[in-house]
Amino acid sequence: MKGIIFTHFFEMVETEFGDETVEILIDSTETSTKGVYTSAGNYPPQDIFNLVTSLSQISQLPQAALYRHFGKYLFAGLYSNYSIFPPKALKNSFSFLDSLNDYIHSDVYKLYPDAELPHFSTQYRDEQKMVLVYQSNRRMSDLAFGLIEGCLAHFGEKASIEVEFLKEDGSEVLFTIKLNSGEN
Ligand code: HEM
Repeated sequence: MKGIIFTHFFEMVETEFGDETVEILIDSTETSTKGVYTSAGNYPPQDIFNLVTSLSQISQLPQAALYRHFGKYLFAGLYSNYSIFPPKALKNSFSFLDSLNDYIHSDVYKLYPDAELPHFSTQYRDEQKMVLVYQSNRRMSDLAFGLIEGCLAHFGEKASIEVEFLKEDGSEVLFTIKLNSGEN
């Protein structure tokens, strides 16, 4: 897993849980690097799983909630780190999500050939509703959920998001995103 994910993760822990939690987290988690990550490096994905498990024990917050929260935080970080998004991705959240697989993540892959990215496909899309399928053996759909929330927040849109596991192990997950029209 790319180091940029880890650097943003530690940044979030520091900002939202404080320096002391960062120290406790590093001391109490088995990782390949003892908590040292650089954004261009590549590290075992097990490290992030172990870090989130520990943070959940330390904070008493469920892992799913932490992944979601981190995903939302991560979107803003990833977005501001890259500058070359295709213009058609930048219209609204649905156009961004629709470009994720074939443009955005595929550019990430060109930049970092050692990245292992999830697969996304749009199953349905109209003005108000989008159905997106996430596939990854890393089973990080909670993170994807948070990233989608971050994407909606970035475009100033509000929506309800429903999640359905297409495979029991979480390697294939369907997201149904319905934009809230009107005031709410
Ligand atoms: C709504 C938008 C996005 C979603 C839903 C999304 C989803 C994900 C998920 C779930 C992962 C974890 C790996 C996995 O599940 O197999 C991931 C990894 C990653 N994504 Fe995205 N992503 C989004 C936007 C972006 C953006 C804007 C960038 C930067 C241009 C980006 C770059 C990356 C990178 C570098 C990784 C790490 C790959 C690796 O570890 O090898 N993503 N993405």
